[in-house]
Amino acid sequence: MIDASVFTSNRSSEPSSRERSLPTTLDAIRAPVADELDAFRPYFREAMESDHFLLDKITQYVLRQKGKRIRPLLVLLSAKVCGEVNEMSYRAAALVELLHTATLVHDDVVDDADTRRGMFSINALWKNKIAVLMGDFLLSRGLLLSLDHNDYTVLHALSDAVRRMSEGELLQIEKARFLNIDEKTYFRIISDKTASLISACTTSGALSVTNDEEIIERMRTYGEKLGLAFQIRDDLFDFGAVDAGKPVGIDMQEKKMTLPLIHALEQSSKSERKAVMKHVRTDDKSAEDMQAIATFAKEHGGIAYARERMEALATEAYELAEAFPPSEARDALLGLTQFTIQRKR
Ligand code: IPE
Ligand code: IPE
Ligand code: MG
Ligand code: MG
Repeated sequence: MIDASVFTSNRSSEPSSRERSLPTTLDAIRAPVADELDAFRPYFREAMESDHFLLDKITQYVLRQKGKRIRPLLVLLSAKVCGEVNEMSYRAAALVELLHTATLVHDDVVDDADTRRGMFSINALWKNKIAVLMGDFLLSRGLLLSLDHNDYTVLHALSDAVRRMSEGELLQIEKARFLNIDEKTYFRIISDKTASLISACTTSGALSVTNDEEIIERMRTYGEKLGLAFQIRDDLFDFGAVDAGKPVGIDMQEKKMTLPLIHALEQSSKSERKAVMKHVRTDDKSAEDMQAIATFAKEHGGIAYARERMEALATEAYELAEAFPPSEARDALLGLTQFTIQRKR
């Protein structure tokens, strides 16, 4: 279990996080923006509406696949920490969840994954062709929502994140072909494919309520660190510690090397590396192949190392958020930072 004391900041004279008792469940973290989340929902739902029969059917299905909706939550909390939540904040929240959903629909095609959020993925039910088009539809509806209201600053931040996400996913595929990924490249990949969007959430939340460059920049950096920690947590799921509602071992199956394995390889001898790489290179891995890789990562300290890096990044994020004036919204943001690395799905 992760020790909550990693979050105890020594920067200020305020009571420590534990004394202040931060919200730890998503419900408690949502509380300070409960009304705002209610207001955001119709923006999201309406932006997905279509009178096309098949699209509408898939949309209904997507809406039933309950995501955590962490990104809109981040937009709204960031906005509230920096100013007054307004219509632009709601549209930004809808835009990020639309883009996120679109990239997940595409990601499951790319990763050949048949479950998502504990249900069948779109590609598993309707095949790749339809999943690709559905993703494009969601992306375009998100862009239109922003354009229709001239939200150019937000649109710019989000479009840049989408560009980086595509680049990150492509770099990841390229590296999986040659299995030559080092830690630096791993961080570049996760920064592009995941932290870019999380950072765009916190940035656009701030952008919707303030012009203060320094505040916007702090929110951007906070989101970047949080996003990196978020993806390391996700990569740890693949090693099967908890059931996160998506397949275990799929990264291994796809030859996607993540931090636990990369670090373990760097710590091992040439002959140990050679032995485990045989399993890594195997197509259609058996349960034994997967187990061998997971055991190798654990025994060579890869899992522990990934946890350490994740905790260090979360602590950096925490300290950036802690520098905002105390409020319920700020404490929720601190709680969310903590939740990110302790979450079970
Ligand atoms: C999954 O994101 C994709 C990653 C960046 C790891 P989430 O874990 O936020 O997915 P949902 O929206 O809650 O399903
Ligand atoms: C994160 O990649 C998803 C995107 C950034 C598009 P993963 O492939 O690691 O995410 P999951 O595990 O499928 O949610
Ligand atoms: Mg992927
Ligand atoms: Mg995936």
